[in-house]
Amino acid sequence: MLDLLLTAKREGLIDNEGIREEVDTFMFEGHDTVSAAMMFGLMMIANHPKVQEEIVNEMKDVLGDIKKKPQYSDLQELSYMERCLKEVLRLYPSVHYISRELGKDLVTHTGYKLKKGTVVQLHIYDLHRNPDIYPDPEKFDPDRFLPHNCDQRHPFAYIPFSAGPRNCIGNISLLFDTPENAFKVVRKWGRDYYPIYGNWIAHLSVANIVNPYDFETILSNMVHNSKGPLYDMLHSWLGTGLLTSGGLKWQTRRKILTPSFHFNILQEFIKVFNEETANLVTRLKKDCHKPYIEVTDYISGFALNTIGETAMGTNFVDSSSGREYKNAIYDIGQVYVHRMCRPWLLNKILYFFDRRYFYEKNLVKKLHQFTNETPLMTSRTLRRNAWPCWIFF
Ligand code: HEM
Repeated sequence: MLDLLLTAKREGLIDNEGIREEVDTFMFEGHDTVSAAMMFGLMMIANHPKVQEEIVNEMKDVLGDIKKKPQYSDLQELSYMERCLKEVLRLYPSVHYISRELGKDLVTHTGYKLKKGTVVQLHIYDLHRNPDIYPDPEKFDPDRFLPHNCDQRHPFAYIPFSAGPRNCIGNISLLFDTPENAFKVVRKWGRDYYPIYGNWIAHLSVANIVNPYDFETILSNMVHNSKGPLYDMLHSWLGTGLLTSGGLKWQTRRKILTPSFHFNILQEFIKVFNEETANLVTRLKKDCHKPYIEVTDYISGFALNTIGETAMGTNFVDSSSGREYKNAIYDIGQVYVHRMCRPWLLNKILYFFDRRYFYEKNLVKKLHQFTNETPLMTSRTLRRNAWPCWIFF
């Protein structure tokens, strides 16, 4: 990523602000989603001892010695583990819904007409719990992902990483009192009014869909490439980086950054994954005699460290500025949830009068300060890392 961004900068495709946007975007998207998946994964494995046993047996078979550090090729043989991870992301997709603004009029699979400009929310969480697609949907059952069980499934029936040209590059509400209640009500609407229902979020008319055919229509077509207005909330921190930008800017950035997830590059990351996993296990072992462990801190530390080292070439969890950064990420997440649950606060003028406005500004300042100090952004490192690129080109 470092090399790609530096090369793109020399070619005039991106400036310093753009680099910061992408660094922040990768830190946000790469750390939060992975932490959530790992926490739900650990919870599922802990609650299903038989699954745990089978994972360990498979690791013994593939690695010989369970303590051996897995290589990239080993990971590809851990098929039961892969099915478990898929099932975790089915039940608990880290991004439970995404949103698009329609670029042209559209007729849904069941014949509803939606006008250009309508905001469409695509509810991945409900899609993954559709009993017609996944019988007994609440049950944790990794065998749903055995080849013969998914052969007939619609390709857009399982999309934890979204799908279509604007899928996840890293492939590895409303007027209610609490986010939990909002979430329950939204799910009930999804079931009661399947396959589509409309609602208003402040002045915006929104269509909500939960059906794989409509997901395919929207996600496969670049015309509907713009993100819904909910993502505007993220601009203060992420600017208009890959996740939040649209049009030509998004295309240019995606072209620059896609090679950073090339198969060969991922292979080189295995060493970092193994080292960070060993650190995580050591930390967890210290506490595993307790009846209950709050794993959030361990897991987000792991994810942040891993993404920092692999994408940014920096290790920061053990430094005080790194810890401050991690806390700021957590706090800004709370601010975003607060705003999502109070749609009137999506209006910038009304938000200005909320006490969280200046609090968020302060958090963003801290986050940007940290990003600006990562090796990628400091001029010393830019010069140092630029050397090999200069020789090559
Ligand atoms: C369990 C892990 C992950 C899950 C479930 C996940 C899920 C998603 C989803 C659903 C989207 C689509 C968002 C939308 O359409 O609004 C997305 C986009 C994105 N993800 Fe991930 N993600 C994961 C890990 C990562 C990692 C590790 C990185 C980077 C290191 C990453 C970087 C991105 C970026 C940059 C986008 C925006 C892509 C674009 O608009 O072109 N993600 N992710």
